[in-house]
Amino acid sequence: MQIAPSFLSCDFSKLGEELERMEKAGADLIHLDVMDGHFVPNITFGAPVIKWGRPYTKLPFDVHLMISEPHRYIKDFAEAGADIITIHVECDSDIGATLDLINSFGVKAALSVKPNTPASAVFPYLDKLYMVLVMTVEPGFGGQSFMADMLPKVGEIKRYAREHGHDILIEADGGINEQTIAECAAAGIDISVSGTGVFKAPDAAKAIAQLKELA
Ligand code: DX5
Ligand code: ZN
Repeated sequence: MQIAPSFLSCDFSKLGEELERMEKAGADLIHLDVMDGHFVPNITFGAPVIKWGRPYTKLPFDVHLMISEPHRYIKDFAEAGADIITIHVECDSDIGATLDLINSFGVKAALSVKPNTPASAVFPYLDKLYMVLVMTVEPGFGGQSFMADMLPKVGEIKRYAREHGHDILIEADGGINEQTIAECAAAGIDISVSGTGVFKAPDAAKAIAQLKELA
């Protein structure tokens, strides 16, 4: 199991140090939550902040776009240093074309489903995808409770992908901590995002090690 601390829970007054701290603590990638106040009822940060953070760590940047029209900003996020860009299947952009655009920049493309969206919504796009992100909270805020009833989507996507010859990673995001990570591992999740569980822990290295052990 790979652990992706969510940058949303970092101390933004020390953005660079926070990224260095996560790399030293054993994080596998950094998850960056971009929100536009329209697709979700919260506003976070955009491509410039990601670009400022980029020199502080070699870890891959896993950029989660919770924005209504991601196709307008893919170039900005690619140039800011994103390694993976996730868009939502519920957004207003043309999904296939936006995934093609992400891939055209040599960035890995991923597609996310909100809790009320069925797993089958991603099936038409599997050939364009590196990863599927299954939301285990309603997107918008860190620190919410884990929705275990989302986990059956993981097996559904993995099974369908395997049957159709696609090798796809599954990431889960929201409410993942020491209490919930074992269920995620059992469901077949490859990458777990953890915001509060890692950034707010007194010892991030210990928190990451413990999450990996429990998984
Ligand atoms: C929620 C975000 C998550 C969030 C996770 O909309 O996509 O990445 O930061 O935070 P925790 O782990 O605190 O639920
Ligand atoms: Zn996220």
